[in-house]
Amino acid sequence: MHLHPCLSCIFLSLAAVTQQNVLAADAAAAIRISPQPSAPDDAKSVEQGFVGFGIEMKSFPQYAGSSFYLTTSNDNDAGKGIEHANEFSKNLLSTFTSKTGAPVHIRIGGTSMDNSKFDPTQTNQATKNTTDSSKNRLHTKITIGAPWIESFKHWDNVLYTLQVPLARKNLSNAIEFARACIDAMPNHVQDLEAIEIGNEPNLYPRIDRNDSYGPVNYAREWDRFAGAIVGNISRLNGKEWFQAMTFSSEVDPNGPWTV
Ligand SMILES: *[C@@H]1O[C@H](CO)[C@@H](O)[C@H](O)[C@H]1NC(C)=O
Ligand SMILES: *[C@@H]1O[C@H](CO)[C@@H](O)[C@H](O)[C@H]1NC(C)=O
Ligand SMILES: *[C@@H]1O[C@H](CO)[C@@H](O)[C@H](O)[C@H]1NC(C)=O
Ligand SMILES: *[C@@H]1O[C@H](CO)[C@@H](O)[C@H](O)[C@H]1NC(C)=O
Repeated sequence: MHLHPCLSCIFLSLAAVTQQNVLAADAAAAIRISPQPSAPDDAKSVEQGFVGFGIEMKSFPQYAGSSFYLTTSNDNDAGKGIEHANEFSKNLLSTFTSKTGAPVHIRIGGTSMDNSKFDPTQTNQATKNTTDSSKNRLHTKITIGAPWIESFKHWDNVLYTLQVPLARKNLSNAIEFARACIDAMPNHVQDLEAIEIGNEPNLYPRIDRNDSYGPVNYAREWDRFAGAIVGNISRLNGKEWFQAMTFSSEVDPNGPWTV
């Protein structure tokens, strides 16, 4: 819209007057609340560290790190230059921490994590897709390289729920990956809230497993992974910190996976 200069001045000043009136009216109608100075006996306290974020595995290096490569659209470049922290994320997280007085909870995982494999000898790429990403989308098979692990070094005062891949059923690889992540966390096991084994296993039938895959098969696989993770990662000190049954809501609500 092109307005005559003077006409637009009038509009602007009218807008300013209207704004003032609204503010004045708001102030007059202000709602006053008078909370009790102390909480009732049956009140539940809010966990200080209630702020949490879920980050898809593929995006973790982009959130934690900062470099030209992290902003390209080519998946195969993602994570080069992870040595520099993403100052925006760092600043945001430390603001939350200072306001709540507790670490921010971050869960790293998702379908992309479940279809991943860790290869510490892949030193020049954080993630490399090994199947066609345009066809397979989040189910694209991905190799996580050493630079991805560096992401942990940039954030202090964070409590992680770390997912390990289950869809590809490589137990020794899941252990190797979890160990490398815990080693890279600034305070190691103190920064770990839980390990999550697999993501949305109720979506596995027909995609990652055969048709007859059900809760009993999942429970067996989960149990085997949990036992071997605790048995092989000394930093866990035998502590069984796990998150289980992260099911997809897109599966038949009356089916066998209903809890
Ligand atoms: C990996 O993803 C990128 C970006 O989507 C694409 O250009 C490349 O062809 C993919 N590689 C494979 C092996 O599918
Ligand atoms: C499982 O991972 C290990 C490395 O951790 C690798 O040597 C092995 O080839 C993988 N197995 C399969 C079936 O991909
Ligand atoms: C499906 O996979 C399970 C292992 O998860 C196996 O025991 C079973 O025989 C398979 N069923 C068919 C029909 O292939
Ligand atoms: C260590 O992991 C392997 C799989 O890589 C598993 O077979 C073994 O039972 C685990 N050891 C312990 C003590 O849990």
